[in-house]
Amino acid sequence: MDLEGNVALITGGSMGIGTAISLNMAQNGADVALTYRRHEQEAMEVEEKIKGMGRKSKAYKVDVSEFEAAQKLVNDIIQEFGHLDILINNAGMNWDGVVWKMTEEQWDKVIDVDLKGTFNFIRAVAPLFREQKAGKIINITSINGLRGKFGQSNYSAAKAGTIGLTKTVAREMGKYNVNVNSVAPGMILTDMFKDLPEEIKQKAADETVFNRLGDPDDVAHIVSFLASDKSRHITGEVIKVDGGQYI
Ligand SMILES: NC(=O)c1ccc[n+]([C@@H]2O[C@H](COP(=O)([O-])OP(=O)(O)OC[C@H]3O[C@@H](n4cnc5c(N)ncnc54)[C@H](OP(=O)(O)O)[C@@H]3O)[C@@H](O)[C@H]2O)c1
Repeated sequence: MDLEGNVALITGGSMGIGTAISLNMAQNGADVALTYRRHEQEAMEVEEKIKGMGRKSKAYKVDVSEFEAAQKLVNDIIQEFGHLDILINNAGMNWDGVVWKMTEEQWDKVIDVDLKGTFNFIRAVAPLFREQKAGKIINITSINGLRGKFGQSNYSAAKAGTIGLTKTVAREMGKYNVNVNSVAPGMILTDMFKDLPEEIKQKAADETVFNRLGDPDDVAHIVSFLASDKSRHITGEVIKVDGGQYI
């Protein structure tokens, strides 16, 4: 995939899938701005690795749920890198609980980070992408936004909302030559699920047709494809990367 000459912003690049996407995009030639919130050391390591590949990179601390912070970050990236071509909304969290026990705080936090955070960054880049008549936006959703998941009413609602947001923005920005797509992973082995009991991970693996969980690189490859011009005729899509976990 040729991403040479492009600047990509990856939210939540300090860990898991976001790190894999950041490195994959750099391997494909992009300069990479990535964000972190708590894992500064890990984010700096990703920045250094990308610089080691001969690409420009900078890690920025930001809470994606803050509207103004997203606007400021996009301005800072333009100052530092000169332009911005690709946005990957990857930062996310879960805070599970059955609906009859879910607190208002639990609901608000997950919606704020996973859904509003995605809106915040789309809103921050949309005027720029519209003006430059070019841009790629890829939102990381989840198969649980498509099928629902016991104990994840907040997370599933946020991820389903992300799919509606993707389809709407794809319609709105198509005439400005901007592609907007979602990638919906099944269970991928990252820190997000490190504390889950083994039997739950095994159950998820058993749901796939390959009897295995996914790897962050499985997601990164399709994201780089969607960020490239090879995907120029694909927009408003939701592409599952789940080993058939939800067919
Ligand atoms: N892993 C899976 O099985 C799976 C399946 C489907 C979808 N997904 C989605 O894939 C994305 C990445 O998941 P992951 O498994 O790689 O998760 P992860 O390992 O827990 O990493 C989450 C990333 O998001 C960042 N983040 C969290 N809250 C943030 C906030 N308020 N502001 C800014 N950054 C924030 C974290 O930054 P810090 O760590 O620096 O705070 C971290 O870089 C998420 O959107 C997740 O919902 C994951």
